[in-house]
Amino acid sequence: MSSMELELNNLRSEALKEISSINSLDNLREIEIKYLGRKGVLNQLLKELSTAPLEERPELGGIINQIKLEIIREIESKRTLLEEREKAKKLEEERIDVTLPGMNISPGRLHPLTLIIERVEEIFRGLGFTVVEGFEMETDYYNFEALNIPWYHPARDTQDSFYITDKFLLRTQTSPVQIRVMEKTKPPFKIIAPGRVYRRDQPTARHSPVFHQIEGMAVDKDITFAHLKGTLDAFAHALFGSDVSTRFRADYFPFTEPSGEFAISCIFCKGKGCRVCSYSGWIEILGCGMVHPKVLEVGGIDPEEYSGFAFGMGWDRLAMLTYNINDIRFFLENHPEFLVQF
Ligand code: DAH
Repeated sequence: MSSMELELNNLRSEALKEISSINSLDNLREIEIKYLGRKGVLNQLLKELSTAPLEERPELGGIINQIKLEIIREIESKRTLLEEREKAKKLEEERIDVTLPGMNISPGRLHPLTLIIERVEEIFRGLGFTVVEGFEMETDYYNFEALNIPWYHPARDTQDSFYITDKFLLRTQTSPVQIRVMEKTKPPFKIIAPGRVYRRDQPTARHSPVFHQIEGMAVDKDITFAHLKGTLDAFAHALFGSDVSTRFRADYFPFTEPSGEFAISCIFCKGKGCRVCSYSGWIEILGCGMVHPKVLEVGGIDPEEYSGFAFGMGWDRLAMLTYNINDIRFFLENHPEFLVQF
């Protein structure tokens, strides 16, 4: 073996050893350039072949080319190996642990007051009523005067008001909507008007300075108390079930004559008497009556030609009864723990 052959042999084993010890694709590229690059070791050797004795050149050239092929093969198989290893590593890093708990997406819900009003509106629409809205800030005239509640009337004391100026206040009831509707609408009409109302009450389980009412009014020729009774009976049975009993009793409101108070048999004890109904068996849900002739007149409607009935109920109370909620303050506090239950 010539010295050149010996040198080539060493080169071969050194190159193979180097390739086998490589651990990264970057290093592999360096080695590839070192041996196979344009100015790499093997090309250098081929160039140097011209200095070898003529008769040895073909054989040496053959050996060099063989070594070159061998190195190419080794580098390629090493590359495949490293690429596969890198891919596996990447997959491992990006692996998704399907056993981890998922992200909890909780969908929005409707507020219990919204759920109730949707149901109430649906019932009254079915009875031919239209849903209208009034203003939360009203004038003294619409909130009291026009409803036959003059300044000296004791009813003003029971509706302690938030005045904004001498003339403007936050409405204490939804009844002013009656006047606004009469001023704009020619009878016959049947409306309900849900909305917020405000009174200077200390917040307790049963009172809130902000609460909700639903006003109702129907005006036509020959409207009688029987229409009022039939309408409210139908409403109560639709909302609370056909097995509830209803009760009308005389009451007083300045804007209705005669006036009544409407109650349903207690839905919790079925009329036997329990804490919710204060052991009376009945739950009052609204005030009502035949629209006072003075009020029709103020609204621009001739009381000789037309008559009407009206009612007003606490909407919070309806929701409290329906969902068995025992504190009115929950409605405005908006605690998620409360709201997710509906
Ligand atoms: N506005 C009355 C209140 O807040 C409720 C009411 C009673 C409304 C009788 C009416 C009615 O329309 O006819 O206490």
